[in-house]
Parts: sequence; structure tokens; C-alpha cells
Amino acid sequence: MTLPTHEFSSPADVVDRLRAQAYLADETIGLTVYIAQRLEKPLLLEGPAGVGKTELARSVARATGSRLIRLQCYEGLDESKALYEWNYKKQLLRIQADERQTWSELEGDIFSEAFLLARPLLAAIQANEPVVLLIDEIDRLEVEAEALMLEVLADFQVTIPELGTIVATRRPLVFLTSNNTRDLSEALKRRCLFLPLGYPSVERERDILLARVEGLSVGLADQVSQLVRSIRALDLKKPPSISETIDWARTLILLGAESIGPVDAPATLHVLLKYEADIEKARRELLGESGEQQAPPAHLDGFRQGQGRW
Ligand SMILES: Nc1ncnc2c1ncn2[C@@H]1O[C@H](COP(=O)(O)OP(=O)(O)OP(=O)(O)O)[C@@H](O)[C@H]1O
Ligand SMILES: [Mg+2]
Repeated sequence: MTLPTHEFSSPADVVDRLRAQAYLADETIGLTVYIAQRLEKPLLLEGPAGVGKTELARSVARATGSRLIRLQCYEGLDESKALYEWNYKKQLLRIQADERQTWSELEGDIFSEAFLLARPLLAAIQANEPVVLLIDEIDRLEVEAEALMLEVLADFQVTIPELGTIVATRRPLVFLTSNNTRDLSEALKRRCLFLPLGYPSVERERDILLARVEGLSVGLADQVSQLVRSIRALDLKKPPSISETIDWARTLILLGAESIGPVDAPATLHVLLKYEADIEKARRELLGESGEQQAPPAHLDGFRQGQGRW
């Protein structure tokens, strides 16, 4: 059986097609995305900032040739921004256009689909083409507002009191992301598959760097991912995310570095870390507990020449 291109044929197919989009997924990600698509279940991605939650949904959309519809959540998001809104101006114009019509004649007309403004959730339900619906940062919503999502997540439908229930003809692949700043409701969790995303292994992070940073050598990618791993092991206020590792590697290339070690690293730590206390802690750790600078390893000599310290 040949599946249409917007459907994955196996967990390995997910991993391969994501790699072609420069997104490096491990086996668990591949398997869970595959199951979510085949079971038509929304997938809740949870993890710290910058570990690739949003990018996973984006990459799946590109890999499957689907349209990406994104709902960015924030405190105060309501039905009119998430689901739909009546087009009041158009309704008013319609009423004024023919003042001889009775209300009962008008009512059925102005509360029809032609007067509806579809917001992301309804747009995803109404779409005829393959869609990836990204409900981003759901934990920014108040818990009561999660109820806005439940009908879509459970039944892929939207009920509009004046109009009836609109059911998806084609179910979108739904991703929700959360930074876990608060607990999500049981009702929401029950409707989703769950995929915790954490920091990648050294090998996967190195591959991510090689896929995302132009001009990076395998050697430098190795060193950066090793250093980042040891920095993440410290008790930091905000450990470096993948996006910060990428920024760091780009910085090193910009500065013409061919390699990086514990002695050079401290000078650019502010690209990787966002708190002064964290920078200080990492610097002390890299330079050794005493804070005394060790002799630079031989491989750094070439890099230092002509450039001085960063
Ligand atoms: N597995 C991966 N493969 C390739 N690049 C990745 C991967 N994970 C993360 N990245 C890179 O990290 C960047 C940040 O990822 P993303 O914006 O998806 O993080 P996030 O988890 O949504 O963070 P936040 O919670 O802050 O929104 C991406 O733009 C991408 O460059
Ligand atoms: Mg995000």
C-alpha cells in the first residue's frame, strides 16, 4: 500500500524525513510522531525552552507538505481569537443593504458561514488540505481557557451556537507545546499523547549543529557539544538550550575559531548563558576550581595567533 506523502510510513520514515528538514529526531520522537499521526491523536510536547518543541511541529509540516496553522497562546486568549468571530461590519452592511427585510429573514442570513471569521482552530477544522495545527505554549493560557481547545482536541469539531457543529472533513495533525510553567488540566492531558522533550545526547546535539550551522567542522561541533554537556551538568539557573548551543557555534565560526576548549570557552560564555551567576559558575568550573588558568592545550595555539583573547 502506498501512503500519500503527507502520511509517514514508519517511525524510521519520520526520522528520515525530519532529517531532510534539518531536524534531528531520536527514535522516541520518530515513534511518537508516527503513532500520533496514525491514531489521529494530538501530541503534547513538554520541555524546557529551546529544545525544539515548536521546531518539531514546523518541521513535520514541511516534511509532509502540510499547511502550518499556528495558535500562539497567551493570557487572555479568548474564543474570538482562538476559534471564530462574527464579522460584525459585514453583518451591519448586510442589514443596512436591505432594510425592508424582517429580522427572521435576516437572522439566518447574517449568521451563516459567509459572515464568519475563522481563527486558527476553526481554520484547521475547515481546511481541505493536509494541515499541521500548532497550539504553541498552551501553559500560558489560564486553566479555564483550556476548555476552548477540548472539543477540537477530542472530536475535531467546533460548535457554533448560531450555526451548528462543524466537523473536520480531514483531521489535522495537532501539536501542543508547553514549557511546564503550570500543570495542565487532566481533561486536556487525557485527550493527548505525551512526549517530554529534553536536552539531546552529545551525539545528537553534534548532528544538530552540523545540520544547522554552516561551515562548522565535525571537530568543532564535537568540542562544542561536549562542553555544553558539561556546562549543563552544573546547577545553573538556566541551562543552555539547543538554540543557544547553535548561537555559540555560530559565534565561534564568526570569530574564526578552529577549535574550542575549557580555556577559551569562558570568553564567549555570555552567548550560551543568560545569567551572570551562571556564567561565573561555568567559568570557574571550566578553568578548574581554583580559577587559575591552565596552559592552553596545543590545539588552541593556531586559533589564538593574531586574534588575541576574545
Ligand atoms: N532536534 C533538532 N534538530 C535541529 N534543530 C533543532 C532541534 N531542536 C532544536 N533545534 C534548534 O533549536 C531552535 C529552538 O527550537 P524551538 O524554537 O523549537 O524551541 P522550543 O522548545 O519551542 O522553545 P520555547 O519553549 O522557548 O518556545 C530551533 O530553531 C532549531 O534551530
Ligand atoms: Mg517554542
